[in-house]
Amino acid sequence: MNAVELRSMYFAYNEKLILENINLSVEKGEFLALIGPNGSGKSTLVKLVLGLLRPAQGQVFIFGTSVDRFREWHRLGYVPQRAAFDSHFPATVREVAATGRFGRVGLGHRLRQEDWKSVEEALEMVGLLSLQHRPLIELSGGQQQRAFIARALASSPDILILDEPQVGLDDRYAYDFYRLLQQLNKEQRITIIMVSHDVSVVGQMAKRIACLNRRLICQGSPRDILTPHNLNYIYGTEYSAVAGLH
Ligand SMILES: Nc1ncnc2c1ncn2[C@@H]1O[C@H](COP(=O)(O)OP(=O)(O)OP(=O)(O)O)[C@@H](O)[C@H]1O
Ligand SMILES: [Mg+2]
Repeated sequence: MNAVELRSMYFAYNEKLILENINLSVEKGEFLALIGPNGSGKSTLVKLVLGLLRPAQGQVFIFGTSVDRFREWHRLGYVPQRAAFDSHFPATVREVAATGRFGRVGLGHRLRQEDWKSVEEALEMVGLLSLQHRPLIELSGGQQQRAFIARALASSPDILILDEPQVGLDDRYAYDFYRLLQQLNKEQRITIIMVSHDVSVVGQMAKRIACLNRRLICQGSPRDILTPHNLNYIYGTEYSAVAGLH
């Protein structure tokens, strides 16, 4: 059974076609990177997988169940693209991470000791345990980003969906973060779908890469996809030069 499957999916904002005939399957345990230029529909595709948007045509399945009927949303952890965050959210780091656990216990129910343990483990994983009682607004941008990664991890997800999670992380933490993702994927068999512009990093981490530009223009192993020819086609000449792939 696939973790995620998109079948002949179309999506339009105000009659402007954003995604066209997308067919994409993500196997359980896979690490898929989604790349493509700005405005190519990556974040939109992610929101369709999360049931936050509805396709104009076609279908989305999560663990074999149509999104319309899917109820186990706690099995999905989501780190939205950074611009979407409201960093003035009046809460502590610990409280933000704990919201990731609400889907498991049901809204209005109190978190039990085991839930707080998962929250603390998630904070530990992103190196924020010592800052857990600080208000989110007092943290740096990169630390806030880590709090939102902890929120996604606190739900103990089976599928982790990350939309450009590395933006704002400094080099040292980005390295730890990528190691953490690989560990979650390899050791806990968590399915990962990550949107990223960092082609040199996804080339090392992802098992499969899908390139989007309204249509799915290519998908395959990093070796097959990250060729100078493809990158020129996707991003233009300068980009593959910057990525050191010439
Ligand atoms: N709420 C919205 N209403 C109307 N159009 C939108 C909306 N959100 C996004 N769009 C448009 O849909 C297209 C795809 O946007 P999307 O955010 O999915 O791109 P992206 O590939 O994630 O880009 P980026 O790399 O910049 O994050 C863009 O043309 C964008 O302007
Ligand atoms: Mg985006």
